[in-house]
Amino acid sequence: MSSDPSSTIESVLQESRIFTPAKEVADKARIRSLAEYQEMVDAAMSDPDRFWGDAARKELHWFEPFQSVLDWTNPPFAKWFEGGKTNLSFNCLDRHLENGRADKEALIWEGEPGDVKRFTYRQLHEQVCLAANALKSLGIRKGDMVALYMPMVPEAAIAMLACARIGAPHSVVFGGFSAEALRDRLIDGEAKAVITADGGFRKDKTVPLKNAVDKALENDACPTVTSVLVVRRIKEPVAMKTGRDHWWHELISEQSKDCPAEVMNSEDRLFVLYTSGSTGKPKGVVHTTAGYNLWAHLTFKWIFDIREEDIYWCTADVGWITGHSYIVYGPLSNGATTVMYEGAPRASNPGAFWELIQKHKISIFYTAPTAIRAFMKMGRTVPDQHDMSSLRLLGTVGEPINPEAWMWYRDVIGGGSCPVVDTWWQTETGGVMISPLPGATPTKPGSATLPLPGIEADVVDTKGRSVDPDEGGYLVIRRPWPGMMRTIHGNPKRFRESYWEYLRPSSKEHIYFAGDGARRDKEGYFWVMGRVDDVINVSGHRLGTMEIESALVSHPAVSEAAVVGRKDELKGEGIVAFVTLEIGRAQTDDLVHELISHVGTEIGAIARPDEIRISEALPKTRSGKIMRRILRALASGDEVSGDTSTLEDRSVLDKLRS
Ligand code: PRX
Repeated sequence: MSSDPSSTIESVLQESRIFTPAKEVADKARIRSLAEYQEMVDAAMSDPDRFWGDAARKELHWFEPFQSVLDWTNPPFAKWFEGGKTNLSFNCLDRHLENGRADKEALIWEGEPGDVKRFTYRQLHEQVCLAANALKSLGIRKGDMVALYMPMVPEAAIAMLACARIGAPHSVVFGGFSAEALRDRLIDGEAKAVITADGGFRKDKTVPLKNAVDKALENDACPTVTSVLVVRRIKEPVAMKTGRDHWWHELISEQSKDCPAEVMNSEDRLFVLYTSGSTGKPKGVVHTTAGYNLWAHLTFKWIFDIREEDIYWCTADVGWITGHSYIVYGPLSNGATTVMYEGAPRASNPGAFWELIQKHKISIFYTAPTAIRAFMKMGRTVPDQHDMSSLRLLGTVGEPINPEAWMWYRDVIGGGSCPVVDTWWQTETGGVMISPLPGATPTKPGSATLPLPGIEADVVDTKGRSVDPDEGGYLVIRRPWPGMMRTIHGNPKRFRESYWEYLRPSSKEHIYFAGDGARRDKEGYFWVMGRVDDVINVSGHRLGTMEIESALVSHPAVSEAAVVGRKDELKGEGIVAFVTLEIGRAQTDDLVHELISHVGTEIGAIARPDEIRISEALPKTRSGKIMRRILRALASGDEVSGDTSTLEDRSVLDKLRS
């Protein structure tokens, strides 16, 4: 293969080139060929109970064995491995102390200012036990929700594992969300405690996390929260409320190192993670103990084909599902060495990632297309200055990857020899659903390729009927899988309606609809197109247009708002807001800036619109529905095509155009 990306890109686009796994890769892999993959697929399809049951017995530790594999008598509410007793923290830590990994490095952490901490499995186990006892000392018991609002420090992973250890479900809130967004999530989840830090380092700045927690709790807004545990990170002064706030290091120093893992039922709640949907407030996606553990474990093992000596690094934040499944739980459950990085590449250090790969001899690297596109734009000079020969496998996640970026990743970062795994999945699926297996699956740049064994993915029409090859449709999953979300916290109705009743199959079948559009080619390869609902994907971050609209409308100057996505070369999608003002409010540049920063305060910096267009009116149908199709075209500068006869007032369109 040529190493000149521009020439290879051309040929990929024209020839649909296929990269077959190299013999050296396949020979060493766990799953070595498409035939082996197909055998697993067939086994899972013909006898799913046996397939999943065998995997669960083999891969996880059980205090007591399960009695049944799947109970699907009340769809869409699944129960997996009923009767079984296990603990995720035990599976991630204790069992490795007895299987020869006690002194193996579990976690390597690199701080933004360059400080490094390393934890062997024995040391991580000890820290988790101390933290678990600290939570108990605050009165946290099995079933109590604990929220985390943390920077990327080791204590974030330790706190997650400590919660899992004592059976307290965690709800990690991304540290980039605002105090208001945190408050909503604390209230909805009825959190009893919040674990945070004095602040975090973000690029060249610090983020005052504890201040945001104080703001979220102001005026007793979250009465269920009785304790706040604060990690000292940036060493800036913060207010500590007596009786409520405790320093992590102080409380930990008083604890015993002995904390046996709580014996959990398979279906006991493990965590809630909020994500955006097309309607309403963010929804708390619920995952439970055994099924999630198995899925994070198996997918990590299959896709990254993990080996004892690997040093694995995923650049996500623990505030997202990728951080849960592929920084913390999947790697540790497998006894792997996982790297956690507090920082992000920034203008003052564009080589930060490559330096880390060189320094820690990373062998598996997992990042997002948006990062790859940003690096690609900067050129290959910086990465070429680093020795990245330790890499053997590259992964991407979060949004569709364009073939040019895929090729650049493979050539420039992977030196032309590392397989690239493009992994499609969601918060709701718990773990990866569609992805190549590095030793088995021939890859096509831009395609997530084939579903994992046991996953019956399909592309269908609105009635749930499979569409023909190369025809676009809705991406669905036809059977339950262990890592599937169990419900939406506090709203089972919304769970049923948004995922299982959106499409209207004529059969009695229960089909999971992911919210994405896709096409399947003649070889059965999946090409995910992106969301078909009112969710936009900005740099791999999922945002509901309605959340941003509500934030805008909460500003006193705004009467109405409609938000749409627009293609963005770097971020995947950008945010464009159309806004009408209250009578008497003048349109000024200052107001536009104020509105943008208002969205930042209400939700977080990731939701700030790229552009706000103020207009007299929004295009609506006679029944008052905003015609987003028109706004999307206007936002992208495209011709407004299709039927506009349902517009109530056609002059609105002309005004918006001008
Ligand atoms: O639209 C798909 C996109 O990200 C959505 C899920 O977002 P979230 O729950 O935040 O999880 C992100 C990390 C798993 C999906 O509905 N998406 C994720 N991975 C891919 C993708 N789109 C295309 N290709 C992918 N590999």
